[in-house]
Parts: sequence; structure tokens; C-alpha cells
Amino acid sequence: MIYSKITGTGSCLPQNVMTNVDLEKIVDTTDEWIQERTGIKQRYIATDEESTGSLGVGAAKKAIEAAGLSADDIDLIILATTTPDKIFPSTACLIQKELGIKNCPAFDVQAVCTGFVYALSIADKFIKTGSAKTALVIGAETLSRIIDWKDRNTCVLFGDGAGAVVIQASESPGILSTHIHSDGSYEHLLRVPQGVATPELHKSHKKPFIEMKGNEVFKMAVKTLGRIVDETLAANNMQKEDIDWLIPHQANIRIIAATAKKLKMSMDRVVVTVDQHGNTSAASVPLAFDLAVREQRIKPGETLLMEAFGGGFTWGSVLLKY
Ligand code: COA
Repeated sequence: MIYSKITGTGSCLPQNVMTNVDLEKIVDTTDEWIQERTGIKQRYIATDEESTGSLGVGAAKKAIEAAGLSADDIDLIILATTTPDKIFPSTACLIQKELGIKNCPAFDVQAVCTGFVYALSIADKFIKTGSAKTALVIGAETLSRIIDWKDRNTCVLFGDGAGAVVIQASESPGILSTHIHSDGSYEHLLRVPQGVATPELHKSHKKPFIEMKGNEVFKMAVKTLGRIVDETLAANNMQKEDIDWLIPHQANIRIIAATAKKLKMSMDRVVVTVDQHGNTSAASVPLAFDLAVREQRIKPGETLLMEAFGGGFTWGSVLLKY
């Protein structure tokens, strides 16, 4: 049996930090409110010189180096993003060019905050079927560019960044399972209501921003993530105690804590970066993963559960042996 094994991780954050106190000067909010309701203390915001592509390249280079490989070894690139640099080419192609890689397939995946879980799930299938041997999977975002900085309901929540992994074909596990889902009927609760081909866009000239019914999204996220934990454990015939680390999507510390509780897991086995990064959408899981790997908290052979929930709604999990 062929498994996909993670052999390198990397991440890249923008130069600028924006604290909650900085936000107090922009909208009617307080550091206390943001920390209490979300757990967020600060987030990174891209400068004019930084982009989803440049952050993705930064994370990719570190992941390739950590795997002990060179860019030539990569035979598949998948980028999860909701904030591509251009309408086309895909940002995956732009990253491919920057890395000097030629000919391998490179494409973007759009599943909002579940994007990295989707991308890893797709890459795993390429590896398992023998279509690729060494894949670069990236989550990168500049959500700051689709935020209404006058809307306190959303602008305090999000940040920019990128995370990446290299996965390689291996005889030992490896990714044990991936589960991905979506339900488009919840579009109205979390969305950016315009795209480049929206018919009304030509008339309105309105800038596209994130719109969210936070409270309803919160409840759905907690419920759905609980279900994905059950689904993942059952599919692998595993018990809660078999999971060494939870690497959740970093949207809100209260959502993360609810999933940890469901797993009967103490918070010191949960990788938390939401306080430092805010919600970086598709970048949040690989960013958190890279941090824990580089701090040597996660050890080879341990069992990790990654999970995410986002706009769509989309949700999913990856269970793996590191
Ligand atoms: N600062 C101060 N007050 C704020 C605020 C801010 N930044 N944002 C909202 N408020 C106010 C609201 O206006 C509301 O005031 P009101 O009662 O006078 O109307 C009050 O705080 C409570 O709002 P509510 O939305 O009920 O708070 P909440 O406890 O649900 O927390 C979120 C709001 C957004 C933090 C929370 O719902 C959440 O995290 N939802 C999930 C968001 C998410 O994860 N999205 C991405 C999914 S991938």
C-alpha cells in the first residue's frame, strides 16, 4: 500500500503585525471584547509588496528545504486559497514560476477555510494512485484584501499568512484518512457576495467584502466539527485516546475548545495559534502545524487530527501518522 507521508513543513507570515489595540483605533471595539469572544490578540497583515503568491513561495521554500529536497523534485503543486493574486493564471502557477519548477501540474483549490484539508485530500489521492510522488501542498491567504475595515463584526477576526507541506509516497503511514464535505445551502451565512463574473458587479462597482452571520456560523461550526471527529474516528476504528494532537482550523478559541472537549483532549495537546495569527482561512492549519513541528512538540510516529470548517459551508478532516 502506498501512503502519503509529510516530509517537510514551512510557513511564512507578513512583516506587519496588527494588535487588537491597533484595531481599537479603526472600529468601535476593545482588546478585551476581541480576546474574550475569539481568543485573538493579534494578526499579521500583508504589506503592499506582499501577496498570497509571495507568502506561498516563502512557505513552500521552507517546506522543500525541511524535506531535504530541491524544487526540481516536486511533481505536483496544489494551492488552497480564497484570495488569489490574479483571476488567472492560478496562484499555484505563479508560485510554480517563482520556484523555477516546470511541467508539473499546478492548480488552486477554493474551499475557503477548509481549503488546505481539501488540497491535502486531493494530493493524497494523486500519491496513492501513483500519479505523483512528491507533492507541494500550500494554504496561503491575504484575507485583509477582502475585509471591510469599517465592519467590526468581521475585521477583528481575520489575518494573512501561508503554510505548506511536502508529501511524498511512502510504504509506511502516512495519511490514514481524509474526509471532505460541503453544503452550499448555507452560502448566505458566510460569503463574499461578488465575483469577477457577477452580473450586477458591472453596475454596482461595490468592492467585494466578507459578510458573515457570526453567531449562526459559530453554532454550525461547533456542531459540524463534532460530527467530523466522530466520522473520522469511526472510519479508522479508533478511539478518542488514540489521537495525540489536534491541529484545528484557527477561527475562534471557543470553537477549538469545543472540539477538544468532544475529543476529551486537554488543551495542551491542541495546537493553538489563533491568538497570534487570527483566522488565516486556508493557511491556518498548515501554519499551526509548521509551528508545532518546528518547536518539536509533534514527534515522529504520533497520530494527528487536522480539521477545518468554512464558507460554503465546507468541512473536513485529515488523520495522519507523522
Ligand atoms: N467589538 C465589540 N463588539 C462587537 C464586535 C467587536 N469587534 N463585534 C460584534 N460586537 C457586538 C455585536 O454588535 C453584538 O452587540 P449587540 O448585542 O448590541 O447587538 C454583541 O457584540 C454580541 O454579538 P454576537 O455576534 O452575538 O457575539 P458572539 O459571542 O457570537 O461573537 C463572533 C461574535 C463573530 C466572535 C462569533 O460569533 C464567532 O466567532 N463566530 C464564528 C465566526 C467564524 O469562525 N467565522 C469563520 C468560520 S471559518
